[in-house]
Amino acid sequence: MVIYRARVFDTPDNPFTGGRLRSAADIALVVDDGLITSRTDFDTARAEHPEAQVVDLRDGVLIPGLIDTHVHLPQVRAIGHLGRPLLDWLDQCALPEEAKLADPAYAKAVAGEFLTGLISAGTTSAMVFGSHFAGAMDAFFAAASASGLRITSGLVTSDRNLPDALLTDVERSTEESQALIDRWHGQGRLRYAVTPRFSFSAGPELLAAGGRLVEENPGIWVTSHLNENVDEISGVAQIHPEARDYLDTYDRAGLVGRRTVLAHNLHPQDRELARMAEAGSVVAHCPTSNSALASGFFPLRRHIESGVRVALGSDVGAGTGFNLLKEGVQSYFMQQLDPSGGVALTSAHLLHLATSAGAEALELDEVGVLSPGKRFDAVLVRPAEGQPLDVGIRHAADDEDALAKIFAMGTPADIAGVWVNGTPL
Ligand code: GUN
Ligand code: ZN
Repeated sequence: MVIYRARVFDTPDNPFTGGRLRSAADIALVVDDGLITSRTDFDTARAEHPEAQVVDLRDGVLIPGLIDTHVHLPQVRAIGHLGRPLLDWLDQCALPEEAKLADPAYAKAVAGEFLTGLISAGTTSAMVFGSHFAGAMDAFFAAASASGLRITSGLVTSDRNLPDALLTDVERSTEESQALIDRWHGQGRLRYAVTPRFSFSAGPELLAAGGRLVEENPGIWVTSHLNENVDEISGVAQIHPEARDYLDTYDRAGLVGRRTVLAHNLHPQDRELARMAEAGSVVAHCPTSNSALASGFFPLRRHIESGVRVALGSDVGAGTGFNLLKEGVQSYFMQQLDPSGGVALTSAHLLHLATSAGAEALELDEVGVLSPGKRFDAVLVRPAEGQPLDVGIRHAADDEDALAKIFAMGTPADIAGVWVNGTPL
């Protein structure tokens, strides 16, 4: 039993439907074996649990563990290339790096660097876009399991338009994926996601093979990319003349449902939004990637009005790092700048997108806010004394303002503690 005494910010009430930031200046979270059993004032908690260890975190701000709904495992060494649009960036920057994960020792080293990147940024749960190599995925799942993070991931599949070393076929991808599902799905905090790279590199037969895996393995997830770049979208239309639109390439294969997370969706048709809302699928919004690749503005307002669920993703390595605070403020910037009319986001919206929206998106009901009944997945933001963020938090007008400063200025250097299920990482 541990009593965490802290200043706590979280978003149990969705700010997109009228909720406000919940903030407590000095509160006790009683945690028993990873579970938050009560949220009360410190004296009450102390009196009820005189034997409990007390951890005083009041020199920082405690927020829920951050949730990244789109981040690429094999791109940790490819972060930071500038100046290319998507298809060119894939050819020149991302795919040559991804091919290197054919080497098991290389893949193991990258898996370690990747998990360090997540934890350092305060990310405690993630939908991880995997590698094209089954051996690399096995090594990643093993490392992810040891890390304690809540990870959903899977073998990436493609059968065209990529370097030969990254291609597979229906039979091989089905066999390798099923073996990984049998070995890892449901083990501890791990889950499996069928992961066709995108319909630009996967034909109808390969996509349908993914759909069969979903049908035969109830509870597994699906992740891919959707409507990111205009050249990509016209390529997809050529490869899939049978499909009504980009989303339909996945839908015809049985890949569009509640456990489907599709990254980007910058250029959707109204029909696609309506269908995603009907199916309950999720869009992973990745604003630094969209900016770096000049892919476009994310039509957040249309997603909200259509009832499509949205959460935040870093999209490392087109995205510029693992820091979801940076993704939050970049989303704010782009909504401000969108010539077609963005949504005016507050700091509470940003925290929701980075925490509770991600938990809902990934059906991680046990995390996302710091309430009784939830698991203690948490991040302590505590900048070094005298740094601009420290000064900013101290002089903030109110808690929303302090939270805005955390998004505007926060980096991994300001993350002083990360817990998953009550265990410090
Ligand atoms: N579409 C297909 N693959 C990728 C990728 O690795 N990054 C991004 N941003 N989009 C993609
Ligand atoms: Zn991506």
